[in-house]
Amino acid sequence: SSQYNYILVARPEPNVALITLNRPKALNALSSPLFAELNQAFIEADADDTVGALVLTGSEKAFAAGADIKEMQDKEYSDVFKNRFLEDWTQLSKTRKPIIAAVSGYALGGGCELALMCDIILASPTAKFGQPEINLGVIPGGGGSQRLAHIIGKSRTMEMVLTGRNVSAQEAEKWGMVSRVVGEGEGQVVKEAIEMAKTIASKGQVAVQAGKEVVNAAYELNLAEGLRFERRIFHGLFATKDQKEGMSAFAEKRKPEFTNS
Ligand code: CAA
Repeated sequence: SSQYNYILVARPEPNVALITLNRPKALNALSSPLFAELNQAFIEADADDTVGALVLTGSEKAFAAGADIKEMQDKEYSDVFKNRFLEDWTQLSKTRKPIIAAVSGYALGGGCELALMCDIILASPTAKFGQPEINLGVIPGGGGSQRLAHIIGKSRTMEMVLTGRNVSAQEAEKWGMVSRVVGEGEGQVVKEAIEMAKTIASKGQVAVQAGKEVVNAAYELNLAEGLRFERRIFHGLFATKDQKEGMSAFAEKRKPEFTNS
């Protein structure tokens, strides 16, 4: 919508919000003003009852080429410390609704980290993932070292963070960074992400958001705590109408009509 300068917000399906990074001249470099808009758009979509799932994408050439290097180059330690630089990026992971990243082209540095903050990543064959911060005399600052270590393990994370080498879509798929590489063709990855978001949005939304919460808990809790948390949330869903509807519909051999309650 028109209140944003660096992103586009659209509704490709009645219950799917599509957020497109739109700073093409800078390959969607994630400046502070851009990220502020991104946070705002996610807060709005999360609060909108008609939205069930979100898709985040960039352009064919770049999902995002990282944090804005020109914005950062003159900053001092005291600036980034006092202003809590990049701390506002954590807002995005508070989104309750599932976020699917549709990645084409460069997803580097903060761009790779932004994709990793999403819940599901679909990659086009052109996608290139990397943490090139080492070439700038720094290290990842948006969660890359931690999220990658959880997902692809120590050796591969060390290689990415310490050499700065880009990883192809195929390699990212083999390493488990992305769900899958979709077929070729412009816009194909966004199309498939929207289809997936539509599927998710057709389910009972209390269960969907509970599902996201428990999967994410696996990255923070130990196994015993995680299993207990999952079971508690599972028990809690028996208080919803959607559980009664979903199980009755199965027994009556009909399609469920979820009311998100
Ligand atoms: N910040 C600011 N501007 C950027 C940018 C970035 N991260 N990435 C690209 N741009 C700008 C370029 O400066 C250039 O601007 P001008 O036209 O004004 O010169 C424009 O986008 C187009 O870029 P290129 O001419 O470089 O395009 P290319 O096709 O030759 O190369 C690229 C593409 C390999 C992605 C190259 O742009 C590149 O290496 N970008 C930087 C990647 C990077 O180091 N990212 C990590 C940033 S640090 C970080 O993200 C910290 C963190 O953990 C949060």
